[in-house]
Amino acid sequence: MTSNTLDDLLADGVRGRHVLVRSDLNVPLDGSTVTDDGRVRASLPVLAKLSEAGARVLVMAHLGRPKGAPDPKYSIRPAADRLAELADFDVEVAQDVVGSSARELAAGLQDGAVLILENVRFDPRETSKNDDERASFARELADLTGAHGAYVDDAFGAVHRKHASVVDIAQLLPAYQGDLVRTEMEVLRQLTEAPQRPYVVVLGGSKVSDKLAVIDQLLGRADHLLIGGGMAFTFLAAMGYPVGKSLLEEDQLETVRGYLARSKETGCDIILPTDVVVASKFGPDAEHEVLPADAIDSGRFGASGLGLDIGPASGEAFVSYIRSANTVFWNGPMGVFELEAFSGGTRAVAQALADSEAFSVIGGGDSAAAVRTLGFSDDDFGHISTGGGASLEYLEGKELPGLTALEGN
Ligand code: 3PG
Repeated sequence: MTSNTLDDLLADGVRGRHVLVRSDLNVPLDGSTVTDDGRVRASLPVLAKLSEAGARVLVMAHLGRPKGAPDPKYSIRPAADRLAELADFDVEVAQDVVGSSARELAAGLQDGAVLILENVRFDPRETSKNDDERASFARELADLTGAHGAYVDDAFGAVHRKHASVVDIAQLLPAYQGDLVRTEMEVLRQLTEAPQRPYVVVLGGSKVSDKLAVIDQLLGRADHLLIGGGMAFTFLAAMGYPVGKSLLEEDQLETVRGYLARSKETGCDIILPTDVVVASKFGPDAEHEVLPADAIDSGRFGASGLGLDIGPASGEAFVSYIRSANTVFWNGPMGVFELEAFSGGTRAVAQALADSEAFSVIGGGDSAAAVRTLGFSDDDFGHISTGGGASLEYLEGKELPGLTALEGN
């Protein structure tokens, strides 16, 4: 089924109309400083198009996971201020989501101006499991638009969430797919429909349990699955190796053993690190050494050592798989890249992707933040997705409620 697009809305005319846009402004913060503004930048083009066309734009977005009540720590302000710095249009910020500040500012909005509402998750109805509660919040959001309002979903990173500002709002206003959602979907479709082989997937990050469904799907599709990051230790433990104090999800060991067995049947190799950077503790001043992946407890720190990065030999091996690939998908850092001593694996993978001619997709907030933190630029890569969970759920073959809500609208 198809969805109406932003171009359809622009063709209908938006001058003087209030248009509610769901953007993903969920950026990492250090205090109130945005440490990676990728999602803000990615949200700008649609807002600019609407502003240029004379729409009165209302932006709905979340930041972090507040507990359904206003909390200054999760204010949308830092992201909104960054957006205002980068934008060529006027940006105002409401002090609430659907309260008196939002209502007054929305009513007074000029053609071409943009109003950012406070974090939609400050209202518990946004994420409620109760359909009526979500619908009542969506109704209050829709009411901000007055007559002739419209809704544009441009928050690719949130399309996997059945939330009021993503799903329920699309039942109340004419709904359109934003350009960011459209381009992200086009790219991901290339990965699932007919990836050029060899197709190499690099998975990292801390938890195997977050990635189980995607590993399951990829075993039947990818040619090589390279596993690094904290999740690698559960695989190493499943092979019977000691992992010291490294991150370990014991309750996943059986499942992981199943994957290792299945990879032999499907012909998708699971490639694990052969060496690991083992540290005395977690921290920037931790002592560390490189040890074989099957003997993490054999070094200076004995069984209290913890692996915080893949080792240099593993990095080289991962790089050579990436070099041989025609398609690469990467989700999740290889180690604690924020700390220089444990950033080598992530840097090696990022550099290999930057050098590669393959069709490459970096999926996920963490991996995207990692490459930017390590000094790479977006242009070094094929495509950096703004969606972490969303891109994984798409690759898992799950239905994305935000996309379904737009279909046939
Ligand atoms: C993300 O960070 O992947 C999106 O912004 C969605 O955030 P969430 O996982 O808190 O729903």
